[in-house]
Amino acid sequence: MDTLAQGYGSGTGIGSDGTSAPLWLLAELTYRCPLHCAFCYNPVDLESHGPELDTEEWLRVISDARKLGAVQIGFSGGEPLVRDDLEVLVAHARGLGFYTNLITSGVGLTETRIAALKLAGLDHIQLSFQDSTRELNDFLSSTKTFELKRKVAQLIKAHGYPMVLNCVLHRFNLPHVGQIIEMALDIGAEYLELANTQYYGWAMLNREQLMPTKEALREAEDTVNRYRAMVGERCRILFVVPDYFETRPKACMNGWGSVFLGVAPDGTALPCHAAKTLPGLQLPNVKDASLSQVWYESGAFNAFRGEDWMQEPCRSCDERGKDHGGCRCQAYALTGDARAADPVCSKSPKHAEVEKVVAFARDARAVEERPLVFRSMRRG
Ligand code: FES
Repeated sequence: MDTLAQGYGSGTGIGSDGTSAPLWLLAELTYRCPLHCAFCYNPVDLESHGPELDTEEWLRVISDARKLGAVQIGFSGGEPLVRDDLEVLVAHARGLGFYTNLITSGVGLTETRIAALKLAGLDHIQLSFQDSTRELNDFLSSTKTFELKRKVAQLIKAHGYPMVLNCVLHRFNLPHVGQIIEMALDIGAEYLELANTQYYGWAMLNREQLMPTKEALREAEDTVNRYRAMVGERCRILFVVPDYFETRPKACMNGWGSVFLGVAPDGTALPCHAAKTLPGLQLPNVKDASLSQVWYESGAFNAFRGEDWMQEPCRSCDERGKDHGGCRCQAYALTGDARAADPVCSKSPKHAEVEKVVAFARDARAVEERPLVFRSMRRG
């Protein structure tokens, strides 16, 4: 990363109350996306959001985030390549000293655009696949994009980027995990992220259909470990287990209002990906407030910061400094109380809710009877 541009990041990165600055800005440029993935974490009421921020507004957000102390920016969506100002935003961020990352399905990444993005200083591209087979890749995204993604992977390589692939795992493609790794090696991936589905947004709507069985998950993990031993440093393989199968929750966002600052396409500032699902949380908008006000002063970003909001069993738990009580959005989705312990935790009185969902996955017939709901701008 370049040395910090003049006037940026020169502060202490600590607010007057000791809150540290965000490290990571996730710029969700648009909810528009040519794909219709059933496991998408985007909100399910996509049509009800306001108009997208324009170029000037995004430039201001990026500058403000850098001034605040953020060092990494992810351009995401939806599909960020549907914005024709992406190159301008990347160049601006790079000029300020951000490490810039494009998170893409690959649709729209032509020779012309990747060359322009390279020129703009883009550091890193993460390309997603849905599966190692054309049939399942195209089924899960409801598009014919498998061949295109393979061509985009070659383009990314040809332009000297590290090859970073991502594949979201679930009941449908877990049995293919070995082939997915083979495909990644064939493409020349240096890094492969195999992230089991996190259940927010559209994925939550499809949770029962996507949830794997414990046995399928264990087999997939064994396969991953075999490949890790075989390929070593040639390709680093990350395998993220779905937290429904754990007995301790994930440290979601590394703690609320701690390092992550998201901005939705309409300018809503987000302490986490799914914050819009929490009722009563007045999410600020970057059109009405500076990012500094958003981060340090807004009720939403302070709602679950630190430990004062915790109830039992989190309040007296000796692991609270590690997992921060888990995920607030998951706690709300499964218990109706955003302050409750994340029920993934075996100490939660509602842990049985999680076990029920996992047990349902064993009943293949019941699962297959439910059709998947594919992401679309209009849920109806
Ligand atoms: Fe909102 Fe975890 S996604 S706190």
